[in-house]
Parts: sequence; C-alpha cells; structure tokens
Amino acid sequence: MIDKTGYSATQIGLHWIVALLVAGQYIFKDSIASAWDAYTRGQEVAFSPLILAHVAGGILILAFVLWRLVLRLTRGVPPAPENEPTPLKTLSHVAHWGFYAILAAMSVSGGLMWFGDVQAAAQAHNVLKVMLLALIVLHVVAIPFHKLVLKNNVMQRMIRPAR
Ligand code: HEM
Ligand code: HEM
Repeated sequence: MIDKTGYSATQIGLHWIVALLVAGQYIFKDSIASAWDAYTRGQEVAFSPLILAHVAGGILILAFVLWRLVLRLTRGVPPAPENEPTPLKTLSHVAHWGFYAILAAMSVSGGLMWFGDVQAAAQAHNVLKVMLLALIVLHVVAIPFHKLVLKNNVMQRMIRPAR
C-alpha cells in the first residue's frame, strides 16, 4: 500500500456520501423497523418508500465501501500525523478498518434478514447498529481531540484533496 500526503477528491467525496447515507439509515429507520415487526408477528407489511430507501441505502453503502476499500488498497491513504502517540495511531487504524468491516457486515446482515429470513442475521443487525454508533461517536470525538490536544488539523485532510 502506498502512503500519500492526503486523501484524493474521490476518497473525500465517498467518505461524506457514506457518512450521509449512514445518517439516513438511522434517522429514517422507523418504517423498516415496523415492517419487520409486523412481518415477524405474521401481520401484513404495508409498503412505504422509506422501506425501499433503507434497503437501497444499505446496498449503496456496501458498493461505496467496497469502492473505498479498493482505493485504500491501490492508491493508499495518508500516514497518521507525526505527533500522534503510537497507541492512538493503532486505535485509529483499528477504528478505520472497523468501519469497513461493520458497514459491510450491516449491509450483508440486513440483506440476509430481509431477503433470506435469517434470524441470526436479524440479531447481528441489531448488535452491529450499536457498535457502529459507538464507533461513530469515537470517530467524531477524535476530531476536536486532534485539534485541541494534539494541535494538528486532521479535519482538513477530509476536506481538501491532496491532488
Ligand atoms: C450499512 C447499512 C445499514 C445500516 C447502517 C442499517 C441500519 C439500521 C438501523 C439503525 C436499524 C434500526 C434497528 C432498530 O433500532 O429498530 C435497521 C433496521 C433494519 N434494517 Fe438496516 N441498515 C443497513 C442495511 C440494511 C439492508 C441492506 C437491509 C435489507 C436489505 C436492512 C434491513 C433492515 C431491517 C429489516 C431492519 C428492521 C430490523 C428490526 O427492527 O429489528 N438494513 N437498520
Ligand atoms: C460528522 C461526521 C464525521 C467526521 C467529522 C469525519 C471526519 C473524518 C476525518 C477528518 C477523517 C480523516 C482521518 C485521517 O486523516 O486520519 C476520517 C476518516 C475516516 N472516516 Fe470519517 N468522519 C465522519 C463520519 C464518518 C462516518 C459516519 C463514517 C462511516 C460510517 C466514517 C468513516 C471513516 C473512515 C473509514 C475513515 C478512514 C479513511 C481511510 O483512511 O480509509 N466517518 N473521517
């Protein structure tokens, strides 16, 4: 893997599109959650465009995550800021890979429960949604930490493309 000085415009664009899509999955989850509830009780499932949006959103997220993964492995990503202590470098590395793994697992478990009626996948989807939320909180809290404590502007790397 090649380490670059910054993220490319495509990597930055994909980061923010995925962030928006993930926010949508949480904000507009009620329709699919009630549809699933009705289905598991053997009741009729009423159609709502938000159900379709959750399924389509999940599939899009998976496609964009795979695209990002290919870019990460072929083009590379910038190294951690120099003044970042080693344990934090390791933590951010694990967190970033954790995002790729959890997002892919959420989409696959969602697909398996919705299209395959796999109960274990339904349980996994519910556990993963909490893990993803915890990771997002950690990720967002890291931004002011970098700015105020480490005094580096890591946020700029996800705004301004390297080239
Ligand atoms: C990264 C992609 C995804 C994210 C972040 C995500 C997130 C969520 C969240 C937050 C819930 C709400 C659970 C609750 O509190 O009731 C949920 C429920 C659900 N999702 Fe997803 N989802 C994703 C992909 C998918 C896909 C691709 C499908 C189907 C093809 C799907 C099917 C469902 C179903 C059926 C429920 C209702 C389950 C329940 O209420 O127990 N999801 N999802
Ligand atoms: C307001 C929300 C968010 C902010 C402010 C933010 C900010 C950032 C910043 C500044 C970086 C660059 C870190 C570095 O250069 O070392 C980054 C990387 C990353 N972010 Fe976010 N992010 C947000 C939401 C999300 C969400 C929702 C996800 C996933 C669902 C996500 C996944 C990632 C991943 C995987 C990386 C690492 C990219 C790589 O090196 O491959 N971010 N984020």
